[in-house]
Amino acid sequence: MKKFDFAIVGATGMVGRTFIKVLEERNLPINKIYFLASSRSAGKKISFFDKEYTIEELSEKSFDKNIDIALFSAGAAASKKFAPIAASKGCVVVDNSSAWRMDSQIPLVVPEVNPQDIKWHNGIIANPNCSTIQAVVALKPLQDEYTIKRIVYSTYQAVSGAGLQGYKDLENGIKGEAPKKFPHPIAGNCLPHIDVFLPNGYTKEEMKMVNETRKILGVPDMKITATTVRVPVFDSHSESINVEFEKQFDLDGLKGILKNAPGIIVKDDPGSSVYPMPVDTAGRDETFVGRIRRDESVENGVNLWVVADNIRKGAATNTVQIAQELIKMWNAYGKSKS
Ligand SMILES: NC(=O)c1ccc[n+]([C@@H]2O[C@H](COP(=O)([O-])OP(=O)(O)OC[C@H]3O[C@@H](n4cnc5c(N)ncnc54)[C@H](OP(=O)(O)O)[C@@H]3O)[C@@H](O)[C@H]2O)c1
Repeated sequence: MKKFDFAIVGATGMVGRTFIKVLEERNLPINKIYFLASSRSAGKKISFFDKEYTIEELSEKSFDKNIDIALFSAGAAASKKFAPIAASKGCVVVDNSSAWRMDSQIPLVVPEVNPQDIKWHNGIIANPNCSTIQAVVALKPLQDEYTIKRIVYSTYQAVSGAGLQGYKDLENGIKGEAPKKFPHPIAGNCLPHIDVFLPNGYTKEEMKMVNETRKILGVPDMKITATTVRVPVFDSHSESINVEFEKQFDLDGLKGILKNAPGIIVKDDPGSSVYPMPVDTAGRDETFVGRIRRDESVENGVNLWVVADNIRKGAATNTVQIAQELIKMWNAYGKSKS
């Protein structure tokens, strides 16, 4: 089997470390691998499959080595600057930041939903925002069957979504220390504030959910509203998703569709207190759906409770899945026709 050269950019971060775990678990055909981060980490050691590697500082020369695939997770500023440099050297970048997601020339991909979009990449493929990924995994099979009329998202997002500093704010906040990452204490609190506020009163995170869902599902005018909330949970985002359809549906039929859809586990037996919860989904790659019930206030509406590990399916796993799809295409059609 042909093997490829990889780079991990932001290898020391919350997502970068999980790239390493997921790459080990999925045993991709890797020939050489390079680990890149900022000057703060350069020279430190990192292990991959029990071998030690030295972290290198990300620079304009980092991609002068015939790297085939670079998984980026070092923030939007680093992606804006370095992803085009990597792409210009023949490397395909799968980027976790928000830098390229809404660029019309760059595909935004969730492999269970729109793998076909990988084909038109020009050297950069964007990985969606964590809260969008798990939502569209659940919504795509329902969109195909019943056509979505309107979506109302309400999220309950883990602190790990704000990187290592977010995680530390909850750990230290439990001990009574003041927050450094969030504008208010997160321990014992809920913050209806993720990313910055925009002139329309929404946060950037909320508009990411609206705009990215439209792009991934290929419906630019889909009616969507969102409220995103940071909660004192370490790992896994939870989402209440209220959906209205154009077509009528049968609740058992809808549950059956979700049960058979790729990447989804339905956990829905409320009488026995069975529903998805962050304590159970942390460390898993699937999207969990439960509390599936008709919205009795409208004609064709349903309520879903959707939970997934934001660092795995919401970031690292989805990125590695995109790399796997890319390699499948290269193996089938050759690298130049990807
Ligand atoms: N956490 C999530 O749930 C999540 C989900 C989806 C997407 N993302 C996105 O993924 C990216 C990273 O998130 P994270 O949670 O892993 O953050 P993090 O834990 O703060 O890690 C940031 C990583 O980026 C590196 N880095 C920062 N500035 C750099 C620069 N100028 N040059 C090279 N490397 C640099 C850091 O290296 P040093 O250790 O050397 O500083 C570290 O490896 C962000 O764009 C975020 O929006 C995060």
